[in-house]
Amino acid sequence: MLQNKHILIGITGGIAAYKILTLIRDFKKSGAEVKILATPNALNFVTKLTLQNLSQNEVFTNEFTPKNWKPEHISLADWADIMLIAPASANTIGKIAQGIADNLLTSVACAFSKKIIIAPAMNVNMWNNQAVQENINTLQNRGIEILSPESGFLACGYIGKGRLCSLEKIYNAVDEALNYQQLLKGKKVVITSGGTIEEIDPVRYISNYSSGKMGLALAKSAYDMGAEVVLITTKDIEAPFKIVKVKSAIDMQNAVNEEYENSDYIIMAAAVADYRVKERAQQKMKKGDEETITLELVKNPDILIELCKRRHSEANNKEILRCAQNDVFAEESQTKPIIVGFCAESENLLENAKTKIDKKGCDYLIANDISRNDIGFGADENEVYIINKKGDINKLEKAPKNVIARKILECINIK
Ligand code: C5P
Repeated sequence: MLQNKHILIGITGGIAAYKILTLIRDFKKSGAEVKILATPNALNFVTKLTLQNLSQNEVFTNEFTPKNWKPEHISLADWADIMLIAPASANTIGKIAQGIADNLLTSVACAFSKKIIIAPAMNVNMWNNQAVQENINTLQNRGIEILSPESGFLACGYIGKGRLCSLEKIYNAVDEALNYQQLLKGKKVVITSGGTIEEIDPVRYISNYSSGKMGLALAKSAYDMGAEVVLITTKDIEAPFKIVKVKSAIDMQNAVNEEYENSDYIIMAAAVADYRVKERAQQKMKKGDEETITLELVKNPDILIELCKRRHSEANNKEILRCAQNDVFAEESQTKPIIVGFCAESENLLENAKTKIDKKGCDYLIANDISRNDIGFGADENEVYIINKKGDINKLEKAPKNVIARKILECINIK
Protein backbone atom coordinates (compact mmCIF):
# COMPACT_ATOMS: atom_id res chain seq x y z
CA MET A 1 0.00 0.00 0.00
CA LEU A 2 2.89 2.35 0.63
CA GLN A 3 4.52 1.76 -2.75
CA ASN A 4 6.44 4.88 -3.83
CA LYS A 5 5.05 7.00 -1.02
CA HIS A 6 7.48 9.56 0.35
CA ILE A 7 7.67 9.40 4.15
CA LEU A 8 9.75 11.96 6.01
CA ILE A 9 10.54 10.86 9.56
CA GLY A 10 11.69 13.46 12.06
CA ILE A 11 13.53 11.96 15.03
CA THR A 12 14.17 13.99 18.17
CA GLY A 13 16.46 13.35 21.12
CA GLY A 14 14.75 10.72 23.25
CA ILE A 15 15.61 7.14 24.17
CA ALA A 16 12.64 5.87 22.10
CA ALA A 17 14.60 6.91 19.02
CA TYR A 18 16.03 3.37 18.86
CA LYS A 19 12.53 1.96 18.24
CA ILE A 20 12.18 3.99 15.05
CA LEU A 21 14.84 1.84 13.40
CA THR A 22 12.34 -1.02 13.16
CA LEU A 23 9.69 1.33 11.82
CA ILE A 24 12.01 2.54 9.06
CA ARG A 25 12.49 -1.08 7.99
CA ASP A 26 8.72 -1.69 8.02
CA PHE A 27 8.07 1.32 5.79
CA LYS A 28 10.87 0.32 3.43
CA LYS A 29 9.55 -3.25 3.22
CA SER A 30 6.15 -1.83 2.21
CA GLY A 31 7.72 -0.04 -0.73
CA ALA A 32 7.90 3.48 0.69
CA GLU A 33 10.77 5.90 0.18
CA VAL A 34 12.00 7.13 3.55
CA LYS A 35 14.09 10.15 4.42
CA ILE A 36 15.27 10.81 7.95
CA LEU A 37 15.47 14.19 9.53
CA ALA A 38 17.24 14.03 12.88
CA THR A 39 17.73 16.79 15.43
CA PRO A 40 21.33 17.05 16.67
CA ASN A 41 20.16 15.57 20.03
CA ALA A 42 18.62 12.54 18.29
CA LEU A 43 22.07 11.51 17.12
CA ASN A 44 23.07 10.96 20.77
CA PHE A 45 20.69 7.99 20.75
CA VAL A 46 21.00 6.52 17.26
CA THR A 47 23.83 6.85 14.79
CA LYS A 48 23.65 8.58 11.46
CA LEU A 49 25.15 5.51 9.85
CA THR A 50 22.38 3.20 11.08
CA LEU A 51 19.68 5.62 9.94
CA GLN A 52 21.36 6.04 6.60
CA ASN A 53 21.68 2.29 6.01
CA LEU A 54 18.09 1.56 6.97
CA SER A 55 16.51 4.43 5.06
CA GLN A 56 18.88 3.97 2.11
CA ASN A 57 19.12 7.71 1.96
CA GLU A 58 21.33 10.36 3.38
CA VAL A 59 20.30 11.57 6.86
CA PHE A 60 19.37 15.24 7.10
CA THR A 61 20.44 17.24 10.13
CA ASN A 62 21.88 20.50 8.91
CA GLU A 63 19.94 23.39 7.44
CA PHE A 64 22.84 25.01 5.71
CA THR A 65 24.12 22.34 3.33
CA PRO A 66 21.60 22.42 0.48
CA LYS A 67 22.27 20.15 -2.50
CA ASN A 68 20.68 22.52 -4.98
CA TRP A 69 19.42 26.09 -5.11
CA LYS A 70 16.40 25.29 -2.95
CA PRO A 71 16.86 25.52 0.82
CA GLU A 72 16.88 22.04 2.37
CA HIS A 73 13.82 22.64 4.56
CA ILE A 74 11.74 23.53 1.51
CA SER A 75 12.93 20.73 -0.78
CA LEU A 76 12.32 18.15 1.97
CA ALA A 77 8.85 19.58 2.63
CA ASP A 78 8.09 19.47 -1.11
CA TRP A 79 9.41 15.92 -1.45
CA ALA A 80 7.39 14.32 1.34
CA ASP A 81 3.78 13.09 1.13
CA ILE A 82 3.64 12.99 4.92
CA MET A 83 5.79 14.00 7.88
CA LEU A 84 6.02 11.78 10.94
CA ILE A 85 7.80 13.04 14.05
CA ALA A 86 8.64 10.13 16.34
CA PRO A 87 9.69 10.19 19.04
CA ALA A 88 8.72 13.83 19.54
CA SER A 89 10.26 15.48 22.60
CA ALA A 90 8.48 18.10 24.74
CA ASN A 91 11.02 20.59 23.40
CA THR A 92 10.27 19.97 19.70
CA ILE A 93 6.51 19.83 20.34
CA GLY A 94 6.72 23.21 22.09
CA LYS A 95 8.72 24.77 19.28
CA ILE A 96 6.41 23.54 16.54
CA ALA A 97 3.36 24.74 18.49
CA GLN A 98 4.91 28.20 18.77
CA GLY A 99 6.11 28.33 15.16
CA ILE A 100 9.78 28.31 16.14
CA ALA A 101 12.06 27.06 13.37
CA ASP A 102 15.55 26.86 14.86
CA ASN A 103 16.79 23.61 13.34
CA LEU A 104 16.14 21.64 10.19
CA LEU A 105 13.36 19.51 11.71
CA THR A 106 11.39 22.43 13.15
CA SER A 107 11.95 24.46 9.96
CA VAL A 108 10.54 21.67 7.80
CA ALA A 109 7.56 21.32 10.18
CA CYS A 110 6.97 25.06 9.84
CA ALA A 111 7.09 24.85 6.03
CA PHE A 112 4.98 21.71 5.81
CA SER A 113 1.49 22.12 4.38
CA LYS A 114 0.60 18.43 4.15
CA LYS A 115 -0.26 15.94 6.86
CA ILE A 116 1.90 15.83 10.01
CA ILE A 117 1.69 13.02 12.57
CA ILE A 118 3.40 13.40 15.93
CA ALA A 119 4.13 10.53 18.32
CA PRO A 120 5.39 12.05 21.60
CA ALA A 121 7.55 10.18 24.11
CA MET A 122 8.80 11.63 27.41
CA ASN A 123 8.78 11.33 31.19
CA VAL A 124 5.29 11.16 32.74
CA ASN A 125 5.67 14.49 34.57
CA MET A 126 6.83 16.20 31.42
CA TRP A 127 3.84 14.78 29.52
CA ASN A 128 1.45 16.00 32.25
CA ASN A 129 3.04 19.45 32.33
CA GLN A 130 0.40 22.07 31.55
CA ALA A 131 2.52 23.80 28.91
CA VAL A 132 3.09 20.51 27.09
CA GLN A 133 -0.63 19.69 27.22
CA GLU A 134 -1.53 23.14 25.91
CA ASN A 135 0.98 22.75 23.08
CA ILE A 136 -0.49 19.35 22.22
CA ASN A 137 -3.99 20.91 22.12
CA THR A 138 -2.75 23.72 19.89
CA LEU A 139 -1.24 21.27 17.44
CA GLN A 140 -4.34 19.09 17.43
CA ASN A 141 -6.55 22.09 16.74
CA ARG A 142 -4.37 22.90 13.75
CA GLY A 143 -5.07 19.48 12.28
CA ILE A 144 -1.85 17.75 13.35
CA GLU A 145 -2.52 14.17 14.42
CA ILE A 146 -1.15 13.26 17.84
CA LEU A 147 -0.56 9.61 18.67
CA SER A 148 -0.76 9.79 22.45
CA PRO A 149 1.93 8.07 24.46
CA GLU A 150 1.08 4.91 26.36
CA SER A 151 1.44 4.04 30.05
CA GLY A 152 4.07 1.68 31.35
CA PHE A 153 7.67 1.48 32.50
CA LEU A 154 9.61 4.50 31.34
CA ALA A 155 13.32 4.53 30.57
CA CYS A 156 13.78 7.22 33.25
CA GLY A 157 12.70 4.74 35.94
CA TYR A 158 9.18 6.12 36.37
CA ILE A 159 5.95 4.27 35.72
CA GLY A 160 3.23 6.25 33.95
CA LYS A 161 2.10 7.77 30.70
CA GLY A 162 4.90 8.83 28.39
CA ARG A 163 6.06 5.74 26.53
CA LEU A 164 6.06 5.95 22.73
CA CYS A 165 2.88 4.32 21.41
CA SER A 166 3.25 1.01 19.60
CA LEU A 167 5.03 0.92 16.25
CA GLU A 168 1.98 -0.81 14.82
CA LYS A 169 -0.16 2.16 15.79
CA ILE A 170 2.29 4.58 14.15
CA TYR A 171 2.53 2.48 10.99
CA ASN A 172 -1.28 2.25 10.71
CA ALA A 173 -1.73 5.99 11.26
CA VAL A 174 0.71 6.78 8.44
CA ASP A 175 -0.88 4.18 6.18
CA GLU A 176 -4.38 5.53 6.88
CA ALA A 177 -3.32 9.14 6.33
CA LEU A 178 -1.73 8.30 2.99
CA ASN A 179 -4.86 6.47 1.88
CA TYR A 180 -6.90 9.45 3.06
CA GLN A 181 -4.97 11.57 0.55
CA GLN A 182 -6.56 9.44 -2.18
CA LEU A 183 -10.21 9.75 -1.11
CA LEU A 184 -11.03 12.74 -3.31
CA LYS A 185 -8.28 12.28 -5.86
CA GLY A 186 -9.44 13.45 -9.29
CA LYS A 187 -12.49 15.26 -7.88
CA LYS A 188 -13.14 18.97 -8.14
CA VAL A 189 -14.63 20.45 -4.98
CA VAL A 190 -15.99 23.99 -5.00
CA ILE A 191 -16.63 25.59 -1.61
CA THR A 192 -18.00 29.00 -0.67
CA SER A 193 -17.24 30.70 2.64
CA GLY A 194 -17.62 33.91 4.61
CA GLY A 195 -20.43 36.43 4.80
CA THR A 196 -21.17 38.36 1.63
CA ILE A 197 -20.61 42.12 1.64
CA GLU A 198 -23.40 44.22 0.17
CA GLU A 199 -22.20 47.76 -0.32
CA ILE A 200 -24.39 50.73 0.55
CA ASP A 201 -21.89 53.33 -0.63
CA PRO A 202 -18.06 53.37 -1.01
CA VAL A 203 -17.54 53.18 2.78
CA ARG A 204 -20.52 51.31 4.22
CA TYR A 205 -21.90 47.85 3.76
CA ILE A 206 -24.34 45.23 5.02
CA SER A 207 -22.79 41.93 6.11
CA ASN A 208 -22.98 39.30 8.83
CA TYR A 209 -20.82 37.63 11.49
CA SER A 210 -19.77 34.61 9.43
CA SER A 211 -16.03 34.03 9.98
CA GLY A 212 -15.58 31.71 7.00
CA LYS A 213 -13.84 29.18 9.28
CA MET A 214 -16.12 26.24 8.47
CA GLY A 215 -15.73 26.73 4.70
CA LEU A 216 -11.97 27.07 5.07
CA ALA A 217 -11.81 23.90 7.18
CA LEU A 218 -13.78 22.07 4.48
CA ALA A 219 -11.47 23.37 1.77
CA LYS A 220 -8.36 22.28 3.70
CA SER A 221 -9.78 18.84 4.39
CA ALA A 222 -10.83 18.35 0.77
CA TYR A 223 -7.33 19.39 -0.27
CA ASP A 224 -5.82 16.89 2.19
CA MET A 225 -8.06 14.24 0.63
CA GLY A 226 -6.44 14.93 -2.72
CA ALA A 227 -9.19 17.01 -4.35
CA GLU A 228 -8.73 19.93 -6.71
CA VAL A 229 -10.19 22.65 -4.48
CA VAL A 230 -11.63 26.04 -5.34
CA LEU A 231 -12.56 28.21 -2.37
CA ILE A 232 -14.80 31.14 -3.25
CA THR A 233 -14.64 33.42 -0.26
CA THR A 234 -15.18 36.93 1.00
CA LYS A 235 -12.15 36.59 3.32
CA ASP A 236 -8.45 37.21 2.67
CA ILE A 237 -6.93 33.77 2.69
CA GLU A 238 -3.67 32.28 1.50
CA ALA A 239 -3.83 28.59 0.73
CA PRO A 240 -2.17 25.97 -1.42
CA PHE A 241 -5.39 25.68 -3.49
CA LYS A 242 -7.28 28.12 -5.74
CA ILE A 243 -8.90 31.05 -3.96
CA VAL A 244 -11.48 33.25 -5.66
CA LYS A 245 -12.04 36.40 -3.62
CA VAL A 246 -15.52 37.89 -3.91
CA LYS A 247 -17.60 40.51 -2.16
CA SER A 248 -21.31 40.45 -2.87
CA ALA A 249 -23.82 37.66 -3.38
CA ILE A 250 -23.92 38.50 -7.10
CA ASP A 251 -20.10 38.21 -7.33
CA MET A 252 -20.29 34.92 -5.49
CA GLN A 253 -22.99 33.60 -7.79
CA ASN A 254 -20.94 34.51 -10.89
CA ALA A 255 -17.86 32.80 -9.45
CA VAL A 256 -19.81 29.66 -8.50
CA ASN A 257 -21.35 29.50 -11.98
CA GLU A 258 -17.90 29.75 -13.53
CA GLU A 259 -16.50 26.97 -11.38
CA TYR A 260 -19.60 24.76 -11.79
CA GLU A 261 -18.21 23.18 -14.96
CA ASN A 262 -16.55 19.79 -14.18
CA SER A 263 -17.18 20.14 -10.48
CA ASP A 264 -18.01 17.00 -8.49
CA TYR A 265 -19.08 18.73 -5.28
CA ILE A 266 -20.32 22.23 -4.55
CA ILE A 267 -20.53 23.08 -0.87
CA MET A 268 -22.25 26.35 -0.05
CA ALA A 269 -20.91 27.17 3.42
CA ALA A 270 -21.06 30.94 2.82
CA ALA A 271 -23.54 33.12 4.67
CA VAL A 272 -25.09 34.86 1.69
CA ALA A 273 -27.02 38.05 2.36
CA ASP A 274 -30.68 37.61 1.46
CA TYR A 275 -31.01 41.27 0.40
CA ARG A 276 -28.81 44.00 -1.06
CA VAL A 277 -29.42 47.73 -1.39
CA LYS A 278 -31.40 48.53 -4.48
CA GLU A 279 -29.02 51.21 -5.62
CA ARG A 280 -25.50 51.51 -4.23
CA ALA A 281 -24.63 55.19 -3.88
CA GLN A 282 -21.64 56.17 -6.01
CA GLN A 283 -20.46 58.73 -3.42
CA LYS A 284 -20.38 58.55 0.35
CA MET A 285 -23.89 59.26 1.66
CA LYS A 286 -23.99 62.48 3.66
CA LYS A 287 -25.66 62.86 7.02
CA GLY A 288 -28.71 65.12 6.59
CA ASP A 289 -31.24 66.62 8.94
CA GLU A 290 -33.56 63.61 8.75
CA GLU A 291 -33.98 61.62 11.98
CA THR A 292 -34.62 58.43 10.06
CA ILE A 293 -33.68 57.31 6.59
CA THR A 294 -34.83 54.29 4.63
CA LEU A 295 -32.66 51.97 2.60
CA GLU A 296 -34.54 50.12 -0.07
CA LEU A 297 -33.41 46.50 -0.31
CA VAL A 298 -33.95 44.01 -3.09
CA LYS A 299 -33.75 40.25 -2.86
CA ASN A 300 -30.47 38.56 -3.79
CA PRO A 301 -30.61 35.45 -5.94
CA ASP A 302 -30.58 32.25 -3.92
CA ILE A 303 -27.36 30.79 -5.31
CA LEU A 304 -28.06 27.35 -3.90
CA ILE A 305 -31.55 27.10 -5.41
CA GLU A 306 -30.30 28.34 -8.79
CA LEU A 307 -27.46 25.79 -8.77
CA CYS A 308 -29.87 22.96 -8.04
CA LYS A 309 -32.15 24.17 -10.86
CA ARG A 310 -29.20 24.30 -13.27
CA ARG A 311 -28.20 20.77 -12.40
CA HIS A 312 -31.78 19.59 -12.77
CA SER A 313 -32.18 21.13 -16.21
CA GLU A 314 -28.79 19.82 -17.40
CA ALA A 315 -29.70 16.33 -16.21
CA ASN A 316 -33.06 16.60 -18.04
CA ASN A 317 -31.34 17.71 -21.23
CA LYS A 318 -28.99 14.73 -21.06
CA GLU A 319 -31.95 12.42 -20.54
CA ILE A 320 -33.84 13.92 -23.50
CA LEU A 321 -30.74 13.50 -25.67
CA ARG A 322 -30.35 9.90 -24.53
CA CYS A 323 -33.98 9.12 -25.42
CA ALA A 324 -33.76 11.01 -28.74
CA GLN A 325 -30.72 8.98 -29.72
CA ASN A 326 -32.48 5.89 -28.46
CA ASP A 327 -29.23 5.15 -26.74
CA VAL A 328 -30.70 2.76 -24.23
CA PHE A 329 -27.34 1.24 -23.50
CA ALA A 330 -25.72 4.53 -22.56
CA GLU A 331 -25.08 4.58 -18.88
CA GLU A 332 -27.33 6.89 -16.97
CA SER A 333 -24.88 9.42 -15.69
CA GLN A 334 -24.61 10.18 -12.01
CA THR A 335 -26.14 13.56 -11.28
CA LYS A 336 -23.15 15.82 -10.86
CA PRO A 337 -22.24 17.90 -8.99
CA ILE A 338 -23.38 16.78 -5.55
CA ILE A 339 -24.67 19.97 -3.96
CA VAL A 340 -24.48 20.68 -0.24
CA GLY A 341 -26.06 23.62 1.57
CA PHE A 342 -25.67 24.93 5.08
CA CYS A 343 -28.37 26.25 7.31
CA ALA A 344 -27.85 28.30 10.39
CA GLU A 345 -30.92 28.41 12.60
CA SER A 346 -31.53 29.96 15.98
CA GLU A 347 -34.69 27.91 16.70
CA ASN A 348 -36.42 24.68 15.61
CA LEU A 349 -33.20 23.59 13.93
CA LEU A 350 -34.20 20.21 12.58
CA GLU A 351 -37.74 21.08 11.45
CA ASN A 352 -36.46 24.15 9.62
CA ALA A 353 -33.62 22.18 8.07
CA LYS A 354 -35.95 19.46 6.77
CA THR A 355 -38.21 22.04 5.17
CA LYS A 356 -35.20 23.84 3.71
CA ILE A 357 -33.63 20.84 2.00
CA ASP A 358 -36.86 20.35 0.02
CA LYS A 359 -37.11 24.02 -0.82
CA LYS A 360 -33.49 24.30 -1.96
CA GLY A 361 -33.32 20.97 -3.79
CA CYS A 362 -29.78 20.13 -2.63
CA ASP A 363 -28.49 16.66 -1.75
CA TYR A 364 -27.37 17.42 1.79
CA LEU A 365 -27.96 20.19 4.25
CA ILE A 366 -25.60 20.81 7.14
CA ALA A 367 -27.59 22.34 9.98
CA ASN A 368 -26.08 24.23 12.87
CA ASP A 369 -27.59 25.96 15.84
CA ILE A 370 -26.42 29.57 15.99
CA SER A 371 -28.18 30.29 19.28
CA ARG A 372 -25.19 28.64 21.02
CA ASN A 373 -22.05 30.70 21.61
CA ASP A 374 -19.70 27.73 21.81
CA ILE A 375 -20.31 26.52 18.25
CA GLY A 376 -21.05 27.88 14.79
CA PHE A 377 -20.48 31.52 13.83
CA GLY A 378 -16.96 32.66 14.66
CA ALA A 379 -16.25 29.71 17.00
CA ASP A 380 -13.46 27.20 16.42
CA GLU A 381 -15.76 24.30 17.12
CA ASN A 382 -19.00 23.15 15.63
CA GLU A 383 -21.72 20.59 16.21
CA VAL A 384 -23.84 19.86 13.18
CA TYR A 385 -26.54 17.63 11.77
CA ILE A 386 -26.15 16.25 8.25
CA ILE A 387 -29.55 15.84 6.63
CA ASN A 388 -30.06 14.08 3.31
CA LYS A 389 -32.90 14.28 0.79
CA LYS A 390 -34.72 11.36 2.39
CA GLY A 391 -34.70 13.20 5.71
CA ASP A 392 -32.14 10.92 7.41
CA ILE A 393 -30.26 12.77 10.12
CA ASN A 394 -26.65 12.17 11.14
CA LYS A 395 -25.44 14.14 14.17
CA LEU A 396 -21.76 15.07 14.36
CA GLU A 397 -20.91 15.73 18.01
CA LYS A 398 -19.10 18.93 19.01
CA ALA A 399 -15.51 18.95 17.72
CA PRO A 400 -12.96 21.33 16.17
CA LYS A 401 -14.14 22.57 12.77
CA ASN A 402 -11.39 20.64 10.96
CA VAL A 403 -12.65 17.39 12.45
CA ILE A 404 -16.27 18.26 11.54
CA ALA A 405 -15.11 19.18 8.02
CA ARG A 406 -13.42 15.83 7.52
CA LYS A 407 -16.50 13.96 8.72
CA ILE A 408 -18.82 15.96 6.46
CA LEU A 409 -16.65 15.18 3.43
CA GLU A 410 -16.43 11.51 4.34
CA CYS A 411 -20.20 11.35 4.70
CA ILE A 412 -21.07 13.04 1.41
CA ASN A 413 -18.32 11.20 -0.46
CA ILE A 414 -19.21 7.71 0.67
CA LYS A 415 -23.00 7.90 0.42
O1 C5P B 1 -32.08 30.20 3.16
P1 C5P B 1 -30.86 30.17 4.00
O2 C5P B 1 -30.10 31.46 3.96
O3 C5P B 1 -31.04 29.66 5.38
O4 C5P B 1 -29.97 29.05 3.26
C1 C5P B 1 -28.65 28.85 3.58
C2 C5P B 1 -27.96 28.09 2.49
O5 C5P B 1 -28.29 28.69 1.23
C3 C5P B 1 -26.46 28.21 2.59
O6 C5P B 1 -25.89 27.04 2.00
C4 C5P B 1 -26.14 29.46 1.79
O7 C5P B 1 -24.81 29.42 1.32
C5 C5P B 1 -27.19 29.37 0.68
N1 C5P B 1 -27.69 30.65 0.21
C6 C5P B 1 -27.51 30.99 -1.11
N2 C5P B 1 -27.98 32.17 -1.59
C7 C5P B 1 -28.67 33.02 -0.81
C8 C5P B 1 -28.89 32.68 0.53
C9 C5P B 1 -28.38 31.49 1.01
O8 C5P B 1 -26.89 30.21 -1.83
N3 C5P B 1 -29.11 34.14 -1.30
